[in-house]
Amino acid sequence: MKPVVSVKELMRDMIDPLADNIFDAVSTQITKTGSRDVVPKTDADWEKIRIGAVTLAEGAYLLKVPRPFAPAGDLNNSAGPNPVELSPDQITAKVLRDPVEWNARIEALRNVGLEVLEIVKKKDVSELWDAGENLDQACEQCHRSYWYPGEDAKFYQNLNRRMQEFREQQERQPQRTGKPPK
Ligand code: HEC
Repeated sequence: MKPVVSVKELMRDMIDPLADNIFDAVSTQITKTGSRDVVPKTDADWEKIRIGAVTLAEGAYLLKVPRPFAPAGDLNNSAGPNPVELSPDQITAKVLRDPVEWNARIEALRNVGLEVLEIVKKKDVSELWDAGENLDQACEQCHRSYWYPGEDAKFYQNLNRRMQEFREQQERQPQRTGKPPK
């Protein structure tokens, strides 16, 4: 099997747009009079979801075909202090170190595709809401592990810095309490 594109492009041009067929199938819209659930109704609506599910269930295995993670020269946001994203080389090293985890993440994505295919057969709208959550998890868990593991660390570092600045500012300001002066 010979890959055509990098993982990044496979995400951008296939996995992500086709996952939207599932993500966008159910939603809650806020209206002037309250809220309204948008759900699939017509055969065409369900067909779109099926196309998304088949693409994910089959396409997930394209991630098993060895391919570069990003196009040549694209290093992701991996430079500078506390980089959020891993470089393509770092992702490659991580996958080679533990191919079992990488394959498990791929299976998790495929399983949601299979779950949605069953839902389409039954046209079960309520299960479609849960499947959207499961899909979100499958994408997010792989991204957290392989793409932007630095996000958490950076987030908390920034938060700590802001808290520190806030405390220093409080100390500089005169004490103000809600009590009336004596
Ligand atoms: C098995 C792991 C894995 C799964 C599952 C996965 N992704 Fe990704 N995805 C990646 C990796 C790794 C990258 C970063 C590649 C890089 O930039 O080097 C990425 C990048 C992306 C990008 C960025 C593309 C760009 O042009 O910058 C998008 C969008 C994306 N994924 C969407 C999704 C969606 C939506 C799902 C779920 C339906 C999903 N991914 C599931 C591994 C995964």
